[in-house]
Amino acid sequence: MASQKRIAWITGASSGIGRALSLRMQADGWIVVASARRAEALAELAAAAPSIVPLPLDVRDASAVVAAVRHIEDEVGPIDAAVLSAGTYVPMRARAFSAQVVRDTLELNTLGVAHCLEALLPRMLERGHGRIVAVASLAGYRGMPTSAAYGASKAAVIHMMEALQPELAGTGVVLQVANPGFVRTPLTDRNTFAMPFRMEVEDAVDALYRGMQKDRFEIVFPLSLALILKAARLLPAGLYLRLMRRLVPTGDR
Ligand SMILES: NC(=O)c1ccc[n+]([C@@H]2O[C@H](COP(=O)([O-])OP(=O)(O)OC[C@H]3O[C@@H](n4cnc5c(N)ncnc54)[C@H](OP(=O)(O)O)[C@@H]3O)[C@@H](O)[C@H]2O)c1
Repeated sequence: MASQKRIAWITGASSGIGRALSLRMQADGWIVVASARRAEALAELAAAAPSIVPLPLDVRDASAVVAAVRHIEDEVGPIDAAVLSAGTYVPMRARAFSAQVVRDTLELNTLGVAHCLEALLPRMLERGHGRIVAVASLAGYRGMPTSAAYGASKAAVIHMMEALQPELAGTGVVLQVANPGFVRTPLTDRNTFAMPFRMEVEDAVDALYRGMQKDRFEIVFPLSLALILKAARLLPAGLYLRLMRRLVPTGDR
C-alpha cells in the first residue's frame, strides 16, 4: 500500500472511528470517499480535507450500496481499500428484550456489511486486488449483559468474514476484521457504565490504520482488553456466566 492516490471507501465516515480514519488516510495521501447518511456532516468533513469525497449513503439499502460502489469506481476510480465502519449500539436489557431492536441492529451492523461485501467482492476479485476491513467489536467474542443485539450483530460479522477469508486467500483480495475495545466516540459517550481501557479515537485509528499496512486477519486493540477477552473465550460457560453476572446493572436481576 505504498503508491500515491490510492482510493479508500469508508462507511460510517460522518462520526467517530470512520470520520477520524478518513482524516488519517487522506493525510497519508489517500483519496477517501466518505459515506454515511448525514450529508451535512460529510460536507463539513470534505470542506476540511480536499481529498475527501462525500457520498451520502444508507448501508441498509442494498441497491443504494451497489449504486454507490458503481459511482465511486466510475467517477473516482477502483477502490483499493474499503473500511466498513457504519454501525450502532443500542443497549438492551432482558426485561426490555425486543426483537425489533435485534432486527434493527442486525440490519445495520450485519446486513450493512453484507451489502458492501456483495457490491465490492466481484469487482475486487475481477481485478485481483483490494482490501475490505469490517469493523466488528471485541463485544462479538462472547455474550455480555446489555449486548444481546449488538454482540450478536458483531459476532455475525466476525463469523461472516472468517467464513469468507480462506476462499479469498491468494486472490489479491485481503479481508480483515477490526475488533476494537472501547473508543471515545459519540457511540460510547452515551454509555453510563465503566469502560475499561477506553482509547481516544486518534489512537484507535492509528492502530486500525497500522493493521491495514499488514495482511493479518484480525486487527485488535487495545491489546490489554483484547488479551483479557481472548482469555475469557477459553472459559467454560458456567464460569464465564458467573463472571458476567457482576456486570449486570444493579436492580436488573
Ligand atoms: N466506539 C467504540 O467503542 C466501538 C467499539 C467497538 C466497535 N465499534 C464499532 O465501530 C464502528 C464505528 O463506531 P463509532 O464509535 O465510530 O460510532 P459513531 O461515532 O456513532 O459512528 C457511527 C457511524 O455510522 C454511521 N451510520 C449509522 N447508521 C448508518 C446507516 N444506516 N448507513 C450508513 N451509515 C450509518 C453514522 O453516520 P450517520 O448517522 O450520518 O449515518 C456514523 O458515521 C461501529 O460499527 C461500532 O459498532 C465501536
